[in-house]
Amino acid sequence: MQKILVARGIFPDVIERLKQYFDVEWNDGDALPADELKRRLADKDGALTAGDPIDAATLAAAPRLRVVANMAVGYNNFEMAAFDAHNVLGTNTQDVLNETTADFGWALMMATARRIAESEHWLRAGEWKKWSFDSFLGTDLYGATLGVIGMGRIGQALARRAKGFNMQVLYHNRSRVAPEIEADLNAQYVSKEDLLRRADHVVLVLPYTAQSHHTIGAAELAQMKPSATLTNIARGGIVDDAALAVALRERRIAAAGLDVFEGEPAVHPDLLTVPNIVLTPHIASATEATRRAMANLAADNLIAGLGEGPRAGQPPSPINPQVLGKARS
Ligand code: DGY
Repeated sequence: MQKILVARGIFPDVIERLKQYFDVEWNDGDALPADELKRRLADKDGALTAGDPIDAATLAAAPRLRVVANMAVGYNNFEMAAFDAHNVLGTNTQDVLNETTADFGWALMMATARRIAESEHWLRAGEWKKWSFDSFLGTDLYGATLGVIGMGRIGQALARRAKGFNMQVLYHNRSRVAPEIEADLNAQYVSKEDLLRRADHVVLVLPYTAQSHHTIGAAELAQMKPSATLTNIARGGIVDDAALAVALRERRIAAAGLDVFEGEPAVHPDLLTVPNIVLTPHIASATEATRRAMANLAADNLIAGLGEGPRAGQPPSPINPQVLGKARS
């Protein structure tokens, strides 16, 4: 039987599915330190990860490893050049989380614009003594301009919801999407600078890469309207968190909602002390149904990628399908 490592806590019934095909080692505890992960992968044929870093050194130390299935759509934890060089298949969980993540983007954007967390903290602290016409004045969403940076599947699902709010949709992306998608979403392609200048609510939904590091830093925050909000449901590192804390404290933008952070689960201490922010612990895809779908898709990828089950050799969401069928090197 081939051996696999499930590197993270996951639904036990998915472990039972995997046991039908593999000898399963399961780390049901905290994320493994890099050295421990490397040691445990040394004799494995496959792995199921959830954001755990898999780099060239880890792959070199695991000569049997042929498939690593990430339980996430983002795979910036994989050094893909090394996967390609070693003919190791990486897979992700694309599509099954689009709608759930787009729902959450809206929840966070709305909570940010309408100051829900800030006012709740104030209420819980016993500060609410009287109703006042100017308490927690926020920013409207209905009829406002939405700026989406990153128009992949999740960005499109997010933009589609803007129709119900009668919003103008601007977007920026590495490449322009097909005209029929633009028409369906009523979305206009603009430069990043134009989007930052014109949007009332900016939402980040782009993948994290070396090129997207600090897509939003001090210079970009300075281009935004003082009344604008910023929501990040993409990845930590896309926003310069230190610069954002300064912009929020100085009210250069109205508010921010962050689900992801540079160096998470650590959070930049300055973000914890500014009031005009909503902070959530990377939960955009966290509904029972979607996390189950993600776990099962990761398992499907691993089973098929390692040549087992009804779809043997045809994993549903390969990142680098060109290595399929090639010998491990
Ligand atoms: C994803 O799928 O990339 C989500 O951010 C969960 O990690």
